[in-house]
This record gives sequence, C-alpha cells and structure tokens, in this order.
Amino acid sequence: MTIEEAIELRHAVRSYRDESIEQTSVKLLEECIEQCNQDGGLHIQLILNEPQAFDSFMAHYGKFSGVKNYIALIGKKTKGIDEKIGYYGEKIALLAQTLGLNTCWVAMSYKKVKTAFRFDEGEKLYLVIALGYGVTQGVAHVSKPLDKVCAIDRDTPSWFVEGVKSALLAPTAINQQQFFFTYENGCVAVKAGLGFYTKVDLGIVKYHFEIGVRDNQFKWAD
Ligand SMILES: Cc1cc2nc3c(=O)[nH]c(=O)nc-3n(C[C@H](O)[C@H](O)[C@H](O)COP(=O)(O)O)c2cc1C
Repeated sequence: MTIEEAIELRHAVRSYRDESIEQTSVKLLEECIEQCNQDGGLHIQLILNEPQAFDSFMAHYGKFSGVKNYIALIGKKTKGIDEKIGYYGEKIALLAQTLGLNTCWVAMSYKKVKTAFRFDEGEKLYLVIALGYGVTQGVAHVSKPLDKVCAIDRDTPSWFVEGVKSALLAPTAINQQQFFFTYENGCVAVKAGLGFYTKVDLGIVKYHFEIGVRDNQFKWAD
C-alpha cells in the first residue's frame, strides 16, 4: 500500500483485535519514529502490550476496546510543538496504515500510565495514537466542501487543489476541519481556526498536503 492509498483508506478505528503487531512492522515503525525524533527534536515512543491506558471508564465511554499498543507523542514544551506533534505523529500513523495497521488519534479518552514512558527534563506527553489490527477498517468522515477550507481562483494550480483534497482526508480533533489554505506565488499558507487541538490538526493537515501535491515544489509561507 502506498502512502497515497493509506491516506484514502485511513479512518479512525477504536476497537482492536487481540493480536500482536508483526515484528517486521515494529522494526519499521521504530525506525520511522527515530527519524521523526531526530528531524523534529521530539521523544515519540512506541508502547507495546500496555493495556492499562485504555482500560478506564473514559476509554470505554469513548468506545475504545482492545487497545494494547499506542504511540506516545512526547516532546519538550517549546514554540511550535503542537504542530510538530501533529506533523510527525501523522507521518507515523500513515506508515502504520501502509503496514496493514489501524490507528486513532486520542487527546482525551485515555489514562497516562507514567511508568510506560521515558521522560527527559522538561518533556511531557501531548497525545497518543492508538495502534493495532482493527476489528473493522472504520468509516470515512463527513468532510467540509473544498471552498470552505481554501481559496481558489483562475490562477490556482491544480496540485494545490490535490493537496487540499488530501488535507480534507486527514483526521482532526472532533472532525472539526478548522483550517484554511491559500496559495500565492509558489507559496502555500495554512491557518488554524478556533477550537480544541487546532494547532495539532494543522501539523497533521500539512503532512497530508505535502503528500497530496506529489512532486510539485512549493514553499510554506511563514
Ligand atoms: C488531535 C486529535 C485528537 C483526537 N482526540 C480524540 C479523542 O480523544 N477521542 C476519540 O475518540 N477520538 C479522537 N480523535 C479522533 C477524531 O475524532 C477523528 O480523527 C475524526 O472524527 C475524523 O475521523 P477519521 O479519523 O476517521 O478521519 C482525535 C483526532 C485528532 C486529530
């Protein structure tokens, strides 16, 4: 499965089968996480066979079941950390999808099991991504129309539209899709709207956009 196919097929999955993650997949995920940590200055960790985080009233209320594996998105409290967590977290989640795994970003419905992580000075756990072989593949979310999330005119290149379509397939907190893309002179800007975790969402949709535009070159506006 390519990363583009993974974007099409990925949906939030909250119920998982009682099956360990294949060793070859664990190795590929670990390698990807290490690279993301280096590139982003993060301390993301793969937590395997740890059922306690999702064994709580909150988790069951949030309809999670069988979650024993997750990705802990850990980093230092620095400027731009939320966006970085979103960007690199989604990179790992989409790799997982290409390996036949399912995922769900989780901000609220889990318990922080501190003994499961390694924290360096000044670090904190931002979110987790539940991971495993899903009972189902999930269902496609309802999306906003294209013109509600970007500005398009006669001069807008078609690759920009493809990038935004890819962003519309991204997971966002409570499916809020609070982002807006604009294009000007080879530069793309994206702004987060108001809402919970919209800065994390921004990183996620930026990663989707970069995949969606394929080989077309552009710069992110500051
Ligand atoms: C930053 C973020 C936080 C999320 N937090 C939760 C959560 O606490 N509980 C939950 O059940 N789903 C959570 N989700 C999953 C979203 O509800 C889901 O991604 C969204 O409804 C879109 O659906 P999709 O992932 O199937 O495309 C979160 C997603 C994101 C991106």
